[in-house]
Amino acid sequence: MKLNKYIVIDFDSTFTKIEAFDLLAEISLKDHPEAEARKKKIRDITNLGMNGDISFRESLEQRVDLLAPNKNHLLQLAEKLKAQVSESFKRNREFFKKYADNIYVISNGFHMFIDPVVTEFGIKPENILANRFNFDEKGNVIGFDKDNPLSANKGKVEQLKRLNLPGDVYVIGDGYTDYEIKHAGLANKFYAFTENVARENIIDKADHITPSLDEFLYLNKLNTAVSYPKNRIHVLLLENVHPVAVELLKAEGFKVETHTKALSEEELCQKIKNVSVLGIRSKTQVTAKVLEHANRLMAIGAFCIGTNQIDIHTATKKGIAIFNAPFSNTRSVVELAVAEMIMLMRNIVGKSYKMHQGIWDKSSDGSYEIRGKKLGLIGYGNIGTQLSVLAESMGMKVYYYDIEEKLSLGNATRCKSLKELLEIVDVISLHVDGRASNTNLIGAHEFNQMKKGVIFINLSRGHVVDIQALKTNIEKGKVAGCALDVFPHEPNNQEEFISELRGLPNTILTPHIGGSTLEAQENIGNFVPGKFMDYINTGSTSNSVNFPNLTLPTLDNAHRLIHIHHNVPGILARINQVLADHNINIVGQYLKTNEQIGYVITDIDKAYNKDVIAELRGIEHTIKFRVLY
Ligand code: NAI
Repeated sequence: MKLNKYIVIDFDSTFTKIEAFDLLAEISLKDHPEAEARKKKIRDITNLGMNGDISFRESLEQRVDLLAPNKNHLLQLAEKLKAQVSESFKRNREFFKKYADNIYVISNGFHMFIDPVVTEFGIKPENILANRFNFDEKGNVIGFDKDNPLSANKGKVEQLKRLNLPGDVYVIGDGYTDYEIKHAGLANKFYAFTENVARENIIDKADHITPSLDEFLYLNKLNTAVSYPKNRIHVLLLENVHPVAVELLKAEGFKVETHTKALSEEELCQKIKNVSVLGIRSKTQVTAKVLEHANRLMAIGAFCIGTNQIDIHTATKKGIAIFNAPFSNTRSVVELAVAEMIMLMRNIVGKSYKMHQGIWDKSSDGSYEIRGKKLGLIGYGNIGTQLSVLAESMGMKVYYYDIEEKLSLGNATRCKSLKELLEIVDVISLHVDGRASNTNLIGAHEFNQMKKGVIFINLSRGHVVDIQALKTNIEKGKVAGCALDVFPHEPNNQEEFISELRGLPNTILTPHIGGSTLEAQENIGNFVPGKFMDYINTGSTSNSVNFPNLTLPTLDNAHRLIHIHHNVPGILARINQVLADHNINIVGQYLKTNEQIGYVITDIDKAYNKDVIAELRGIEHTIKFRVLY
């Protein structure tokens, strides 16, 4: 691709995340008896060089002497450096290939470890400017080519002078020697690259700060893979979201702000103004008022299961996609259900209580194995099906009832009615969702239909069970054991838990912790960012709570137009008319609607101009419009 500018990129801490010599010290001095002393000396020499107390060549000579590397060390170093390429460089491989003629890598380091790393990105060998080692016949480094300008002070300046590039020169780097090129009048612009290190004295001197390569490409309209620089996308994470999520989002290049607590409505109204992605857990209330202030919000990630804390209707109306983690804690709930079944069948709660009071009451009365017993699952969704599999592998006979047609896993038997299930099973476990019509799904009438001595477990939602009816049935022995994790009213940690069920025999009460494990938190931390990154990067809305779900392929050689509109007839035709008027060919198109909105993705193979975008934006009933790539 022809370009009349040249991009000169530094290697250490820019192309790669680290300084190559630091890593080389770890390799070449690994078994050296004076390793630590030598590493310290190398650091001291580096500082002397930086302060100008010794020349660069002297500093390089002394450091190479102390590192005493051989060919084998350098090969290892190159391999390790390949894994240390800066994230935004990895994301933008296409850019290096497309503009290979115009990209140079410059370094005071050495070809031997730089070339293998950068040529993998399509950098031309002749465009790599670095020093060369001299080796003895055994492959030990015995010095370097001292005629190479890069081994001397102001080496990068001299090298650029010799190159005499016939066009504008833009330098990207993190160090003073990179800035010097611009200072010497050999570059038009210097971009301080801060993805790996941010040096104050460089930032001050830079024409632009570029927190990632994305920003540089965006500023210079060179972006190929990524449409909008991630560092301009502000992600606000509240309520101590798991650190894995923070890491994932930072690695992707987003500007991430975290808070340990939820924010009040007022605080959030202020904060939300420039936020593009909001991450919350269950305490933050995303109200209509908050959403009114959300000028740039594209997506909300609920790092939990429930989304009642979000005004979904208003968010949808504003074209904001909502994602949650519907099955990140499924396994945790299932494990607790299995454990509770066993504990209740053996009356462990009562026995443990007595032991704490000093009573040794050894007896097998009323204790049973779960093997061979009939388990009845009410609700055969994510959790119900998982429990079905585990319970069966422990020898239980599984029956289930679901209002929807579901695939039976393993040997599970589907019951045609709730009554049928209640009448035959020994253990009942509830896993229905919290829809309003499920209020008191299990009441006096249903308890009457159960077998005497049934074990009853509810880890789903509190309002699904009539608590008074349950209490009556525990007291009269109809229910032999019961475990509840969810309640019609759930207090906060400071309030007392008030319930008729307190003190009842063989009754396990837990404070809604079915899904609360560290594994589940980590799963959620991994899952939710994946969803909104997909949405931002490709437009995919799979698993979105409020958007029509579309899973989209990534794009090669095309542009993707994303159009969100109120669900009224004729929008697709209007979009296509605009494209036809501009003679633009559609290579792929996807449309899905729900009650509120329509979501249209159009992939086009041709460069578009601003008029097309303005016309598409101007289509009546458009809520949001964006272009990818
Ligand atoms: P899901 O949505 O995958 O499955 C729910 C199933 O229940 C669906 O198949 C649905 O058709 C069925 N259903 C709804 N009403 C029904 C009825 N009246 N009779 C029979 N079937 C009915 O949900 P998932 O992920 O399996 O979660 C199940 C429940 O567990 C939810 O209420 C959820 O809030 C709760 N949960 C509790 C946790 C805890 O910490 N205790 C953690 C995670 C989820």
